[in-house]
Amino acid sequence: MTSPLPVGVLVSGSGTNLQAIIDQQEAGLLSAEIKVVISNVKDAYAVKRAVNHGIEVKYISHKDFVSREAFDAELTNVLESYGVQLVVLAGFMRLLSTEFVSHWSFRLINIHPSLLPAFPGLNAQKQAFDHGVKITGCSVFFVDEGMDTGPIIIQASVPVMSDDTPELLASRILQEEHRILPIAIQWIANQSIRVEGRRVYTPDDPQ
Ligand code: GAR
Repeated sequence: MTSPLPVGVLVSGSGTNLQAIIDQQEAGLLSAEIKVVISNVKDAYAVKRAVNHGIEVKYISHKDFVSREAFDAELTNVLESYGVQLVVLAGFMRLLSTEFVSHWSFRLINIHPSLLPAFPGLNAQKQAFDHGVKITGCSVFFVDEGMDTGPIIIQASVPVMSDDTPELLASRILQEEHRILPIAIQWIANQSIRVEGRRVYTPDDPQ
């Protein structure tokens, strides 16, 4: 049996996506293991989730560093000290430097609450709601230098209901996030995806 893929998860918030990964891992459904969780927010609930499950957590405040590059270099130091081979951004609300992104190229994924390339950036669910789209969703992608522009690994669609609010919509999108993020991690851990340019070929692609 091959050893599980060592994963580092970066968080800033409530950590429900982190929880989804932990749950899959604990159910024995993931060929990956979270080695460390890094939070840039001290009292993020994600930190508590990691502690509750016996996972190592590091709090690294960007405020303690002179530049984005210096903060990101420390992130890389910590991740590499845990032997991390895949970095998962799970609600990590900070832009990363081009140095960090190129260092972790195709070993860095993010989850975003819209059907990219629509509605990148902050408050994607509200952006979609306000735009009046009928269908939105979520995307997991390899991070590149742009804002939510990297090659897409998996997406899930979520319909907008006639009596929706941005909050209700966001909570239904979140359910789908929890489903697709572990799938993307599992595909990477299994080496069952192939990237050609912007196109990511996965076991889910219709023949
Ligand atoms: C999720 O909805 C995630 O898609 C979003 O932050 C939330 C984190 O929730 N990320 C972004 O908007 C990144 N651009 P969580 O802390 O409960 O996993």
